[in-house]
Amino acid sequence: MDTRSPTPSSPLAELGRRNALAEESGGPERRERQHREGKLSARERVLLLLDEGSFEETDKFVTHRCTDFGMGSEDKRILGDGFITGYGRIDGRIAFVFAQDFTVFGGSLSETNAAKIVKIMDTAMRVGAPIIGLNDSGGARIQEGVVSLAGYADIFLRNTLASGVVPQISAILGPCAGGAVYSPAITDFTLMVDKTSYMFVTGPDVIKTVTHEEVSKEDLGGAATHNEISGVAHFMAQDDAECLAMVRELLSFLPLNNVDDPPRRPCTDPIDRADPELDTIIPADSSQPYDIKDVIERVVDDGYFFEVHEHFARNIVVGFARMNGRPVGVVANQPAYLAGVLDNDASIKAARFVRFCDCFNIPLITFEDVPGFLPGVQQEHGGIIRNGAKLLYAFAEATVPKLTLITRKAYGGAYCVMSSKHIRTDLNLTWPTAEIAVMGAEGAVNIVYGRELAAVVEKTELVEGPLTAERRAEILAAARSRKVEEFRQQFANPYIAAERGYVDAVIQPRETRRRMIAALEMLDGKRDKNPPKKHGNIPL
Ligand code: HXC
Repeated sequence: MDTRSPTPSSPLAELGRRNALAEESGGPERRERQHREGKLSARERVLLLLDEGSFEETDKFVTHRCTDFGMGSEDKRILGDGFITGYGRIDGRIAFVFAQDFTVFGGSLSETNAAKIVKIMDTAMRVGAPIIGLNDSGGARIQEGVVSLAGYADIFLRNTLASGVVPQISAILGPCAGGAVYSPAITDFTLMVDKTSYMFVTGPDVIKTVTHEEVSKEDLGGAATHNEISGVAHFMAQDDAECLAMVRELLSFLPLNNVDDPPRRPCTDPIDRADPELDTIIPADSSQPYDIKDVIERVVDDGYFFEVHEHFARNIVVGFARMNGRPVGVVANQPAYLAGVLDNDASIKAARFVRFCDCFNIPLITFEDVPGFLPGVQQEHGGIIRNGAKLLYAFAEATVPKLTLITRKAYGGAYCVMSSKHIRTDLNLTWPTAEIAVMGAEGAVNIVYGRELAAVVEKTELVEGPLTAERRAEILAAARSRKVEEFRQQFANPYIAAERGYVDAVIQPRETRRRMIAALEMLDGKRDKNPPKKHGNIPL
């Protein structure tokens, strides 16, 4: 595309001509190809993401400086150079955005468009506003070589420096491969579109050569893979429009920066709304599952829970909700999936979410029903010690207001980890159905009363003479079940912890919403700090 004006024109006409050229980007044919593939163009995406009429574009006339590989010709110098950058508003609040334009050299990163991104990232940091990246790119601009790699590294540095200062969100709306994946990976949330986006460090062809594995792009790094298996992505959308709507929704829970408060909304859901259904939501048999999301939705404003990482490590649930109009981060064990046990993936998922909320002043509410850490060789070899410690560290380090409600089980190490009183949780509540113990009654009885149970059988044998195997088993089972019941009565309840002050109150389930909102308002002015240090050393 020739950026030189063929004939002299008025300054205004020249500006108009250049604007039109920049907006033409890769041309109608390539744009049409985007649409055929079910994708929007970069400009359409930016306009859809931001409040109508709010987009202010920067560096629209930047062109690349490469002259190698025939890149020096005028028709290769496309205004904007394949990246759209600027700022606008989302729900009236400032946000910075960059969008890779696949119609210009496959949205590849050049020296100059990396500089465009760096510029808006630096500005976003100065003003304290979120940065949203819309990714759709063939990666480093091959013609520019190391200069392009340097551009990536410049962005990675900014991602790192901005981490915990302003929210950073990455939408993956096409290819994102090679080292390019590390920018989204450092940001706070990654969203992917099913069937049109993929992320991987090395693609199927390289994998086939190196490891002889055959895998499709979709199976290797599609939206479903990263949402369900790797946990790299936090959200999965069906198309670009849904993905951009999710970004807007996500931002509605977040402050603009780390010294701002999350945005409060008027609340019409009564703060003292009692929910009698909660009184009977826990099954009488404590080995039976129930869906913790039913509990969350009955407690939070308007029953609305915006789940994060919905498809990954479903034994723990994390996401955002509002309480009396204030955003809160929710972490909840999920008894309906793997009994809510903590494993490697669940620990990592929850730890990252807790740290995000703590960075951005979002109070944490923990709903606890956890039978413990998942036993097994795979878990131990997978580093459950290191990973479980991440969650413990994250909760312990967090200084935002923290509330915990134990609905049922709080066993063993998991009791300590799940935002217990001992790690600076401000208010710990339990329902009367809580069972707080070192382990479940069955396991505990086997260990503590093993000898005693064997003695019962021997004593019966002295009285009744030699016993059949069935009779021995019967006697053992009866004795064990008496002990289990005894143990349950004695330990599997909230009152021992309540007597010690390890829980602050045992409450009626129906009044959970009122109690939690009262606690959050009490904690409004909370100020807590960690000891001065360069940074902690979370077990990564
Ligand atoms: C320059 C590129 C490009 C790139 C694509 N294009 N990738 N130009 N540098 N990296 C151009 C193509 O030449 C083509 O131009 C147009 O973009 C569309 O590309 P197609 O191949 O026609 O599209 P498609 O079939 O959809 O395939 C998309 C793709 C493929 C899978 C992304 O283009 C591809 O494999 N590209 C190379 C990916 C790659 O290896 N990148 C480097 C990775 S390493 P025309 O003019 O024909 O329309 C990396 C390291 C980052 O990125 C390191 C950070 C530390």
